[in-house]
Amino acid sequence: MQKVMQCGNLKIPALGLGTYKLTGRVGEQAIAEAIGLGYRHIDTAAFYDNEAEVGTAIKNAGIAKAEVFLTTKVWPSSFTKKLFVPGVQESLRKLKVNAVDLLLLHWPADEETNKLALGLLLECYEKQYAKHVGVSNFNLAQCGAALQFAPISCNQVEYNPHKCLADLAGYLQQQNMVLTAYSPLARGAVLNEPLIQQLAAQYNRTGSQIVLRWLLQQKNVAAIPKASTGKHCMENMQVFDFELADEDMRQIFSLCKP
Ligand SMILES: NC(=O)c1ccc[n+]([C@@H]2O[C@H](COP(=O)([O-])OP(=O)(O)OC[C@H]3O[C@@H](n4cnc5c(N)ncnc54)[C@H](OP(=O)(O)O)[C@@H]3O)[C@@H](O)[C@H]2O)c1
Repeated sequence: MQKVMQCGNLKIPALGLGTYKLTGRVGEQAIAEAIGLGYRHIDTAAFYDNEAEVGTAIKNAGIAKAEVFLTTKVWPSSFTKKLFVPGVQESLRKLKVNAVDLLLLHWPADEETNKLALGLLLECYEKQYAKHVGVSNFNLAQCGAALQFAPISCNQVEYNPHKCLADLAGYLQQQNMVLTAYSPLARGAVLNEPLIQQLAAQYNRTGSQIVLRWLLQQKNVAAIPKASTGKHCMENMQVFDFELADEDMRQIFSLCKP
C-alpha cells in the first residue's frame, strides 16, 4: 500500500526510490525491480548519470508512464541561459517522457544565479517540461527568496533522525510545500542507534521501517530511500500499516544532532 500526499496542487506518492549510484545494467535492473514491487515515485538527477536507465526501466515495466511520479534535477553548472533549457530537454529525452512531474534546482548558487535559474525553471514549467517545480538543498532564507520568483512546491533536503531541520520543516509546512527527505536513513547510520533498534524490537519491525515511518508520519514529508536490493525495497515499502506513538515520535526527534 502507498500513501499519496496532496500539498497544494502537488500530488506525490509519499515514498519514492532514490537512485543515486544506481547506474548501468545493474542499476536499471534494481529500478525495474522496485517498480515491479510497486514503487511509483522515482528520484533521479542529471548529475546521477542514470536518467537513461530510469527511462528504460519505466518503459519496460509495462505500466503507463503517467503512473510513475518522476523527479529530476538540474545541476548548478547548468544554471545559465545557454545550458539550462537544453539540459532539461536532454533529461527528458533520456527519461523518454515529454514532461517530468517535478523539476528541481539541485543545489543553490549565489543569489543572482539562483534568480536566473528560477526564471529558467519557470520557463521549463511554462513550456510544460515539468508539471511542478521546486528546489533542493535550499535553506530557509533561500527558500523564502525563491518563492518570490517561482511557484516552487517542494524542497528536497537531507532529513533524518540525525538531521531534523525543525525551522525549515515548519516553514515548508506553513507554505504547504513538500519536504522530500533525502538520505532518510542517513546512509544507514541511523540504523545503529540503540533507540531505533529498541523501537524496532518493540514494534516488531526493522530499523529502516521505524525511521521511514517516523518521516512519513510527519505532515508534508516524503522520503526517497535508496535501496539496491529487492529485499530492502520491499522492507522500505511496508511502512503504511502501523503507526508510531506520539511519545516514540518525540524520542526519535531527540536523536537530532545540532
Ligand atoms: N538532492 C540531493 O542533493 C541529494 C543528495 C543525496 C541523495 N539524494 C537522493 O536521496 C536518495 C537516498 O539518499 P542516500 O542514497 O544518500 O541515502 P539513504 O537512502 O539514507 O541510504 C541508502 C543506504 O541505505 C541502505 N538501505 C536501504 N534500505 C535499507 C534497509 N531496509 N535496511 C538496511 N539498509 C538499507 C542502502 O543499501 P542497499 O543499496 O544495499 O540497498 C544504502 O546503502 C539518493 O539515492 C538520491 O536519490 C539527493
